[in-house]
Amino acid sequence: MAIKPNIGQPLNRLEGRQKVTGSAKYAADYHVPQLLYGYVVNSTITKGKIVRVDTSAAKALPGVVEVLTHENRPGLAWFDLQYADMDAPPGTVFKPLHDNKIRFNGQPVALVVAEEFEIARYAASLVQLDYEEEPFVTSVEANLSKARPAKKGIATALKPPPPAPTGNFEKAYEAAPFKVDAEYYHGNEHHNPMELFATTTVYEGNGKLTIYDKTQGTINNQLFVANVFGLRYKDVRVLAPYVGGAFGSGLRPQYQLFLSVMAALHLKRNVRVVLDRHQMFTLAHRPQNLQQLQFATDENGKLTAARHAAFVETSSYEDYTEVISSWSHRLYPISNTRFEYKVVPLDLSTPTDMRAPGGVTAMHAIECTMDQLAYKLGIDPLELRLRNYAEVDPSTEKPFTSKALRECYRQAADSFGWSNRNPEPGSMTRGNKLVGYGMATGVWDAYQFPSRIEAILTKEGKLMINNAVTDIGTGTFTVMTQIAADELGLPIEDVIFGYGDSKKPFSMFQGGSSMTSSTGVAIVMAAKALKKKLLEKVKEMSDSPLADADEKDLVFRNGRIALVNEPSVHINFQEIVAANKGQAIKTTKMGKPHLLKLRKYSKMTHSASFVEVEVDKDLKTITVTRAVTAVAAGKIINPRTAHSQISGSMVWGISKALQEESVIDENLGKYVNANLAEYHIPTHADVHQLEVIFAEERDELINELGVKGVGEIGLVAMPAAIANAVFHATGKRINKLPIHFDELLE
Ligand code: MOS
Repeated sequence: MAIKPNIGQPLNRLEGRQKVTGSAKYAADYHVPQLLYGYVVNSTITKGKIVRVDTSAAKALPGVVEVLTHENRPGLAWFDLQYADMDAPPGTVFKPLHDNKIRFNGQPVALVVAEEFEIARYAASLVQLDYEEEPFVTSVEANLSKARPAKKGIATALKPPPPAPTGNFEKAYEAAPFKVDAEYYHGNEHHNPMELFATTTVYEGNGKLTIYDKTQGTINNQLFVANVFGLRYKDVRVLAPYVGGAFGSGLRPQYQLFLSVMAALHLKRNVRVVLDRHQMFTLAHRPQNLQQLQFATDENGKLTAARHAAFVETSSYEDYTEVISSWSHRLYPISNTRFEYKVVPLDLSTPTDMRAPGGVTAMHAIECTMDQLAYKLGIDPLELRLRNYAEVDPSTEKPFTSKALRECYRQAADSFGWSNRNPEPGSMTRGNKLVGYGMATGVWDAYQFPSRIEAILTKEGKLMINNAVTDIGTGTFTVMTQIAADELGLPIEDVIFGYGDSKKPFSMFQGGSSMTSSTGVAIVMAAKALKKKLLEKVKEMSDSPLADADEKDLVFRNGRIALVNEPSVHINFQEIVAANKGQAIKTTKMGKPHLLKLRKYSKMTHSASFVEVEVDKDLKTITVTRAVTAVAAGKIINPRTAHSQISGSMVWGISKALQEESVIDENLGKYVNANLAEYHIPTHADVHQLEVIFAEERDELINELGVKGVGEIGLVAMPAAIANAVFHATGKRINKLPIHFDELLE
């Protein structure tokens, strides 16, 4: 019998105190003895080669230990296979200091290692490099002629290419009474989590390394380091107990990890490499892209034809892809479709997944196109969505494991006051402000990955749960503790969750909004196995009062096993351990998605965002005055941490729609606002009233916990809802994100 007092409770973050008091240690906070500091030198050209290196001035500086470049770096085992990490796209992984070729501006070209950070940084400025420049390309829009289908690889499993066409798009589009043909453009966005990319490598001797790294996946980076440097897996330990945000930037190993490990092995010393904020703009980013959409409906507003083509940046050396063009067909029934996806290789570093990669990109274009259709048809934008509501997944005809999107629409619209909207653009005002209401739909996948859990009943009668998963700020630590506590009938304080360590049992990197289902379900499996073991032990105990009890008449509660109907008849966990000769009792279990059963279903999360903007009549400045997002994502384990995931995503939605943009100077091939002063993100003054609603969604099919995931779904609908609200306020469609307010000036 399951009693779940913790699941569904809004617990505070268990590690909150450590985080706000500064005692939580991040990758660059480990003050190991005799630490050396590495500072990266980045290329100042965009493409070409290094023709001369002079490190003499840097090396001559007292305190400098070594300067590594492609000319003197140690020989490496470089994994000759295509994939050096679990998230590598098809192509050839970027190898820092491998050769003299420059593939993107800001490419790491040297590492200065010194006794002090400041010395390393200063010495880096003394490294002289001469280059031979070659012509380069950095714009998707200007290089559409280079667009081609992406190569396939292991990443294709999670990011399939668009499906084959259905029906006859051209004919249906031609014949339709209502149609919209629109283009959308998104600029680059760079990952800027609070914690900078940092690695502290501890050289343990005997070829062993302990690595404190900023990553979303301890095991992924362990594999990478072992593969690349030819080490034994068990000799490489990667730890990331605290991660100061990551959002996808830490899915793949970043170059500071490689450089820190290389220097540590070469010098047989402990080495830390931290990137500065400027250097964060030399790696992980969301790709620029151009999308072309042609949607058509019949007289009643039912979609009859859809074409969605995406042209997306990748690098010259890897084919990074996202799922963009096929989302409309997972949301709306459409008989005649044509979906395309092409990569445009540019001389920039490989793009990286960034919160709701592809989904938020696509849904901006799709939901703004739907808004335009609603105006053409003269029907309410929400009504248009309801007329095209899919009861089964239109792309596969499979039923959903659950889908409470209708409830999301209803609850968010009610709370927002959508019925007060006058559809006429520019008709609603407040003093000197034009007021606009906009709405949009969000969709995201509900992933679950295999995860292995070690569950131990300790000598003290506490439950220890071990798994390599990270908590990148999402609340994973707290949520997993809640799940484990309820499963074994223990109070929260008697559960110890050990995580963020590659030595612990397998976990994928924390990504794809998948950890609550992946790790959580595995905990349920492991706890069940442990309970079974405990029951066996209880039966074996000589003086057991529960020896004859039937399993179904027993309950695990408050650290004891008791008769359901007579709780005074019980055995404490400590007594069970004592009877086990004082030895801890362990089980290990793999949790996996029920692939066979789930093949018959579509698994998705949904959301709806309703947004109010104010646009200054004279200055055209845009303020998101309030927003409501309703989410359907199965069971919510912790409403507080889940709420934070959604409201944080909504802030990002404001950011994506109105602020965030890495501006490239195409003559230089570099980002010209590579700092947080000029790369705009919302401040408190930009964030007003945000409301989060979780629509009830009971999902008995998806997994043992009925959970989906909330890490990304809160972002997906926001940019489109904001863009639609800006149109409603001003009558102007700006299909380029971020929306620059000056584009609204007459
Ligand atoms: Mo997320 S972009 O799957 O880390």
